[in-house]
Amino acid sequence: MSVQPGTTLWLTGLSGAGKSTIAALITDRLRAEGQAVEWLDGDELRRSIGHGLGFSREDRFENTRRAAYVSGLLNRHGVMTVISLISPYAEMRSYARDMLPDFVEVYVACPLEICEARDVKGLYAKARRGEIPSFTGISDPYEVPVSPEVKLCTAEHTPEECAIELLTWLKKRQ
Ligand code: PPS
Repeated sequence: MSVQPGTTLWLTGLSGAGKSTIAALITDRLRAEGQAVEWLDGDELRRSIGHGLGFSREDRFENTRRAAYVSGLLNRHGVMTVISLISPYAEMRSYARDMLPDFVEVYVACPLEICEARDVKGLYAKARRGEIPSFTGISDPYEVPVSPEVKLCTAEHTPEECAIELLTWLKKRQ
């Protein structure tokens, strides 16, 4: 019996842009509709299979490689995945796109000033004080996606509205 490969919804964006909040909402909604779906979050991945990785370009790339690998295993069995990773380099995202059977790049867009004002984890303040080196958006690059399949603007819309926008896009595509 052949299985239809699953889709990867790859949420990229600055820290504090709202990736995890939207990922949690969309995972819940899809699961409630009976979809087999797994959410792989940056923080959780770094605690588990990414343990020991830092934030150099090489380590961030390795982090992406591992996330894409796990996602591919799940997709192969028809499980949809929702990945929330800063994944700041275009090259990384393009690598993941090439690796995965159905890759959907979702840019969770939010101006740096707003992410910094939110500073949910207090990391921007620390980065500004120089206590966190290579902090994305402050002392490390974030390459804005040029042609993502979906762009969600969290400065203008609530996480619920963004999750609905993404779900609607997915359903239209089907
Ligand atoms: S990456 O670039 O894709 O490998 O990053 P990711 O695995 O998504 O991890 C991002 C979370 O790690 C925290 N953190 C940092 N982010 C960016 N730069 C630096 N230097 C850094 N140090 C720690 C931060 O809490 C990120 O979580 P989110 O959920 O994005 O806010």
